[in-house]
Amino acid sequence: MLAKTKGDEKTMPDTEKESKSKKSQKTKKSEEKTKEQENKTTLSDLPGVGPATVEKLNTVGYDDLMSVAVATAGELIEVTGMSESAAKKVIAAARTSLNMGFESGMDLLNQRKSVIKIPTGSDEFDKLIGGGFETGAITECFGEFGSGKTQLSHILAVNIIKNNPKSTVVYIDTENTFRPERISELAEAKDLKPEDVLKKIKVARAFNSDHQMLLAEKVEDLIKKQNLNINLVIVDSLTSHFRAEFIGRGTLAERQQKLNRHMRDLAKLSSIHNLCVYVTNQVMSKPDQFFGDPTKAIGGHIVAHASTFRLYLRKGKKGSRVAKLVDSPNLPEGECGFFITGKGLKDL
Ligand code: GTP
Ligand code: MG
Repeated sequence: MLAKTKGDEKTMPDTEKESKSKKSQKTKKSEEKTKEQENKTTLSDLPGVGPATVEKLNTVGYDDLMSVAVATAGELIEVTGMSESAAKKVIAAARTSLNMGFESGMDLLNQRKSVIKIPTGSDEFDKLIGGGFETGAITECFGEFGSGKTQLSHILAVNIIKNNPKSTVVYIDTENTFRPERISELAEAKDLKPEDVLKKIKVARAFNSDHQMLLAEKVEDLIKKQNLNINLVIVDSLTSHFRAEFIGRGTLAERQQKLNRHMRDLAKLSSIHNLCVYVTNQVMSKPDQFFGDPTKAIGGHIVAHASTFRLYLRKGKKGSRVAKLVDSPNLPEGECGFFITGKGLKDL
């Protein structure tokens, strides 16, 4: 048979044309159907996951495929009591159904467009951190007492609400240093109604490290069940409870293990929901250091590696503060000075 040329189509009888277009409609429809099916995969469709397991998973917050896909086998075993091989199968199936894998650099560049940058109020500070505190990342500020870590958390909370009025902020307060009066003052300086801003900040006092970790896990519920548009999660301070509860060298491994889990939960939260996680951290003195700054952040490598951006705050001359960017995936190291004022941060 001769190959069909374009001209043949013109002379094709109507009935043949019709059946051809019907066929293409059919394939289109079936394509749509498989896509729909893909989208409709739920936890109960995963291999070996029955209603009882779904319930167990749901009660601890694994209520969609993404949460299972990014879990570790150990986490699922702990929750459901399933065997290791079953847990691995479930995770693999969740990952397949979500089509997880490599993305092109272009996809990632497009995703970066959804990043929100929360301004600090100081142009120099904003420049240092590439325009503001980023969503989709963890930013850690460490520094001695009075260096401005808590002030910065209040300022960021007001500034995100100023720029994105639909935002909600979560504030996990471990040291009882959240001050609504300070929020009111900062809000007024930005021409915002203090009550409007305060209503958009959900504060929870964490009484110990377990409680703190639980509160971080609960943020997901606020997003899913209460439909809140959370753009900023503050943990002030990240390390104080851990530092107080685990004293002595023998407990260090356990402390770091718990902190690691906490940081991973926060990292997941920031990445899945494109929100900014801001954590504060104290410093301890390094008695063996003779040159340079003899202070070191608490939490060691675990906190350092889990944080996307790391800032070191210290007191400067004449009541000013100095912020130093010590770690960032895309920005050069550098530092800048600023003042903390009643109205927020101010350039030198
Ligand atoms: P620790 O939590 O103790 O580790 O310290 P921190 O780094 O959280 O310090 P914080 O942010 O609480 O900074 C306190 C400093 O901010 C104070 O020493 C004041 O100089 C300044 N500050 C706090 N509140 C105000 C304010 O309302 N107006 C002005 N101008 N400065 C303030
Ligand atoms: Mg503080």
